Amino acid sequence: MTSAPFDDRDGFIWLDGEMLPWREAKLHVLSHGLHYGGSVFEGERVYDGNVFKLREHSQRLIDSAKMLDMKIVTSLEEIENASREVLEANKITNGYLRPVAWRGCEEMAVSAENASIHIAFTCWEWPKYFFPKGGEDSGITLKTVKWRRPDPLTAPVHAKAAGNYAIGTMAKHEAMNAGYDDAFMLDHKGRVAESSGSNIFFIKDAIMKTPYTECFLNGITRQTVLKMAKDMGIEAIEATIMPDEIGDYEEVFVTGTAAEITAVGKIDDNNYEIGPLTKKMQDAYADLTRQKTASKNVA
Ligand SMILES: Cc1ncc(COP(=O)(O)O)c(C=O)c1O
Repeated sequence: MTSAPFDDRDGFIWLDGEMLPWREAKLHVLSHGLHYGGSVFEGERVYDGNVFKLREHSQRLIDSAKMLDMKIVTSLEEIENASREVLEANKITNGYLRPVAWRGCEEMAVSAENASIHIAFTCWEWPKYFFPKGGEDSGITLKTVKWRRPDPLTAPVHAKAAGNYAIGTMAKHEAMNAGYDDAFMLDHKGRVAESSGSNIFFIKDAIMKTPYTECFLNGITRQTVLKMAKDMGIEAIEATIMPDEIGDYEEVFVTGTAAEITAVGKIDDNNYEIGPLTKKMQDAYADLTRQKTASKNVA
């Protein structure tokens, strides 16, 4: 993976219908999306040339925009075509795809009814999201942070909206500054929620549990894992999980497009084994993401 800044790379970016040289894909400093959080995005992984769950991610981009009262005029089909075109232009067959839509410059105020909606697609190689501080075999470490997932009536919690990530960034910084890999976040009622950029599963007595998604994104990977478990005959349920019970679990993992299925070795003072069910789900997910039939991107 290159360490060049993201605005100074070779390649191409699809911006409002045009495939531009990477460094020329710019927006104005007075864009509404920058000042008032009028921006939604997606994160998708490409495996052997196919975007895993392309249809679901493309639809979520449109749905996220709707939740923010932003009208993306680009159709589902156009979004999928642009996704394929940018991957092809950059010759990415294994990597990460990032669509983003934002409000433009016609209005510089809280209201944005007249602001145009822009959309861009870019991609890059991104083999791994987590590099556990304790080494590859130790799992990541999570720290309970002060930042919480908000009440669904105070933020568009089910949208993949840039504004929601202000909380995630502060949460992750708090955890990393304390020497941990990521944040362990509760919701506004004190229930276990997720990490800064992934959902979470707990395992005990061969039963997998994951919190209800009332206050945060119902991840596509989370949904995939629940379905995979069902197909594999493993009991996997949604549940209310309270922080005082996390020490009772044997295995923990987080799920996300970028994180895939990443084992958790420690939350605060609780240690977990990277056990058989976590490994089984990781293997099954690796198989699924590389099956052409699992992806809607097959031309
Ligand atoms: C805050 C948050 N929760 C959960 C997820 C997992 O979502 P998905 O599995 O759709 O990538 C993500 C990643 O998109 C995220 O940013």
